[in-house]
Amino acid sequence: MAFPVTRMRRLRSLEGVRSLVRETRLSPECLVYPLFICPGQGVRKEVRSMPGVANLSDDEAVKEAREAASLGVTALILFGLPEKKDEVATGAWSDDGIVQQAARALKREVPGLTLIGDVCLCEYMSHGHCGVVRKTSATEYEIENDATLPILARTAVSLAKAGVDIVAPSDMMDGRVAAIRTALDQNELRNTPILSYAAKFASAFYGPFREAADSAPQFGDRRSYQMDGANLRQAMREIELDLAEGADMVMVKPALPYLDVIAAARARFDVPLAAYQVSGEYAMIQAAAQNNWVDRERVILESLTSIKRAGADIILTYFAKDAAKMLA
Ligand code: PBG
Repeated sequence: MAFPVTRMRRLRSLEGVRSLVRETRLSPECLVYPLFICPGQGVRKEVRSMPGVANLSDDEAVKEAREAASLGVTALILFGLPEKKDEVATGAWSDDGIVQQAARALKREVPGLTLIGDVCLCEYMSHGHCGVVRKTSATEYEIENDATLPILARTAVSLAKAGVDIVAPSDMMDGRVAAIRTALDQNELRNTPILSYAAKFASAFYGPFREAADSAPQFGDRRSYQMDGANLRQAMREIELDLAEGADMVMVKPALPYLDVIAAARARFDVPLAAYQVSGEYAMIQAAAQNNWVDRERVILESLTSIKRAGADIILTYFAKDAAKMLA
């Protein structure tokens, strides 16, 4: 039946009706709030390119987690800024590493949190790459895949032992999920799930994060391990392989410029799907809002709703607290 019998606007005329027929709903439970942990006590250092985001010492992280939890956001992902970096990423896997310490403090002080540990080496390597670097000549180098795997596995085990509930490898080395699963199982950590950053693209939208986490590569870029943004079919293959290696959940990252990848992954795989609204996505919205060029609150909710509508079950976002406040 077409117009005039059918009038699409009937279901849009009242907010009560609009909300009854709304197909996609956001709630604070599907949001994950990222925290950047730095050394010291009482430190809350604003990240220049991410207004509203700060590096937090673990006591400040506890306060932040309490506030997030009071708003209904109980899932956190932790990144670390270690005191020292080296060529074997000691800070990533040592038992008194910066994230390990914060995880213990958060678990002790704030009951009911779900902690996700980002498993990557770039923040802990002096060269800022996500894997072991081998010089192949005076000017050439290689990111060594297989030599990186035991370090990632060791990091995942150490994080889980410190109280992290879910480990999330974001390095994009081949075979890391299997290596991590094996190591967790050998250490009586059979119930620790793996959330794999399976389809992680080499993106310019990570720019502000590298300032926040002090993790910019000192030479070269990440294009030999992170995916080419032009590839959708290859993203499906990455996800398939990570699931075959034992990933429990998978992630697409970034989110907004890759909604088609999220939708394709949703259609194809019946596992929980996460999407990361990354630092550059956050920074763009904050910058436009600060200039009064967009309505900040509406743009935040619209972008998160789009990511959910595309098929993500879980959204990692620096807006987690803001969104939870608006949804309350
Ligand atoms: C670590 C990692 C990065 C992000 C999450 N984990 C940075 C990168 O790959 O360079 C980016 C998150 C963001 O931009 O918000 N490898």
